[in-house]
Amino acid sequence: MPDFQQPRLEGEQLEARYAFAKRVALEAAQRAMEFYTRRSSLIVEHKGSDLQDVVSIADQEVEAFIRGELARHFPDDGIVGEEGGSDGLQARCIWVIDPIDGTACFLNGLHNWCVSIGLLVDGEPLLGAVADPNHDELFHGFIGRGAFVNDTPLQAHGASHVGEGLVGVGTTHRPGHEHFLPFLHALLDGGGQFVRNGSGALMTAYVAAGRLIGYYETHLKSWDCLAGLVLVREAGGRGNDFLRGDGLLGGNPYLVAAPGVYDQLAAMIGASLDAP
Ligand code: IPD
Ligand code: CA
Ligand code: CA
Repeated sequence: MPDFQQPRLEGEQLEARYAFAKRVALEAAQRAMEFYTRRSSLIVEHKGSDLQDVVSIADQEVEAFIRGELARHFPDDGIVGEEGGSDGLQARCIWVIDPIDGTACFLNGLHNWCVSIGLLVDGEPLLGAVADPNHDELFHGFIGRGAFVNDTPLQAHGASHVGEGLVGVGTTHRPGHEHFLPFLHALLDGGGQFVRNGSGALMTAYVAAGRLIGYYETHLKSWDCLAGLVLVREAGGRGNDFLRGDGLLGGNPYLVAAPGVYDQLAAMIGASLDAP
């Protein structure tokens, strides 16, 4: 909650951060692309014991670039980044970044990956930028000012039934994956259909763009979706209370959807979506 005793953040201070997010997302995506073109030479490491949870120097170097830009331009802001952890969480402005979302795709030569940079102000998502260099798309948005892909405004799908479009899905080996197959069953039984492209940030942006009618992941991290939450909200979509509890650092189940099918999808997932 905003503290009324604190001075307001001036519009130009936030404007500068919006311009920063867009610029740095694009530059970071170009740096990632340089690694992508020589991906076969990258050493792939595993995070912990999950062999599917991969990382390379590309993720680390791109995050280091973003952190360096932040230190130069907004040294007092906080940060939550997938590779480098969190710092300065007492700050009013907290950047939430994923240097490469869709790392498994990236390392396997699939063109579904992006850079995601979001900003929380006083605990609320305010702006976000998601850069996809394979398709020359920069998704960006600012609360109250709309969401865009490049210069084109985004609008969530007008579906009123899950049969009217595609639902993005995702899961990991983390707790919660037991809810995945029951959801797919319910979706198919209800006349829906699913896709998984391997990048939660992109699938969230696609919900904002009306390309997908929804996206469900059994357990997502904040850096996968913080920028996307701004896009979905500004495009007229709906999302669950993802940041509740330890959402910022620990993650939560996640659903974003077109307004006409959100309740239908939430009912298919059941109580686990908003469980404490
Ligand atoms: C992953 C992707 C994937 C989702 C996973 C995320 P990463 O992020 O967004 O689509 O299913 O939950 O961890 O590891 O590629 O940054
Ligand atoms: Ca990610
Ligand atoms: Ca990542």
